[in-house]
Amino acid sequence: MVHYSELGFVNTREMFKHAMKHGYAVPAYNFNNMEQLQAIVMACVESRSPVILQVSKGARKYANQTLLRYMAEGAVAYMKELGGNIPMALHLDHGDSFELCKSCIDMGFSSVMFDGSHLPYEENIRITKQVVEYAHKFDVTVEAELGVLAGIEEHVSAEKSHYTKPEEVEDFVSRTNCDSLAISIGTSHGAYKFKPGQPVPPLRFDILEEIQKKLPNFPIVLHGSSSVPQKYVEIVNKFGGNLKGAVGVPEEQLRKAAAMNVCKINIDSDGRLVVTAIIRKVLTEKPEVFDPRKYLGPAREELKTLLIHKNTHVLGSANRY
Ligand code: G3H
Ligand code: 13P
Ligand code: ZN
Repeated sequence: MVHYSELGFVNTREMFKHAMKHGYAVPAYNFNNMEQLQAIVMACVESRSPVILQVSKGARKYANQTLLRYMAEGAVAYMKELGGNIPMALHLDHGDSFELCKSCIDMGFSSVMFDGSHLPYEENIRITKQVVEYAHKFDVTVEAELGVLAGIEEHVSAEKSHYTKPEEVEDFVSRTNCDSLAISIGTSHGAYKFKPGQPVPPLRFDILEEIQKKLPNFPIVLHGSSSVPQKYVEIVNKFGGNLKGAVGVPEEQLRKAAAMNVCKINIDSDGRLVVTAIIRKVLTEKPEVFDPRKYLGPAREELKTLLIHKNTHVLGSANRY
């Protein structure tokens, strides 16, 4: 058992209080490899933004859970070496069982999500509560979810989105004692969020407002918040890829949500898109290249640029520390 404070992480409690008070959202960026992690740390140090390093079950499997935990520990030292002094949390994204959440807590995560959104309401409460009871013994914060996002929510296939019901949130939060709540207001995971060639339907700010009324000053989380910048979709397609009809959430809508009670915004797909676009471009333009540093390096640089843009112009988390 290693406690997250020994690794230099903080839980999300103070982060969210600060974000709520100042009307911005903390970025939660997923990583699976060293270059993504480096880009996230460099971007957040340079833009002086707090950050939540986010790890999925799949990322743990891909990178190896032990190696990943040491990478995360190294990220705190790296942040300091870069001259940074920003709060960093290490968070499990979409935990699907008590055991997985416990394993992450025991390995030094400062925050975990239990995603019971696909479960019957009472079952979601039961397991969320079990996770909260264990997590709080170590002052680890817990994100829960109510409402189902459209598309594939990890191992859960949802035909269509079931928006969060505002009438359920008070009961759910008071009975589970969770620290933040992920909700469904029209975002979805992946690069195909809306119908291509049609106006993007606005997020359901009416539901968010209702939830804000029921749970004043309670941190809300938005998953599926990639904007799928068309610039990168075009690069992918120009250099041999096939991402026809990829559409994301407009940046202005995320900015609006961040100024409300949304304190954490999850972004993964945009990072994947940038990295793929640059690797495709470099390999096509320089077919003689076979040193991975020659294509992973530029991909990392472009990812850093994108994340600084998000912190500064979308989430409003830049220059807060
Ligand atoms: O919301 C899911 C994240 O993008 C993580 O995706 O399970 O493929 O690592 P993953
Ligand atoms: P995107 O697929 O929109 O990047 O969402 C990521 C996410 O919600 C991670 O939990
Ligand atoms: Zn998610």
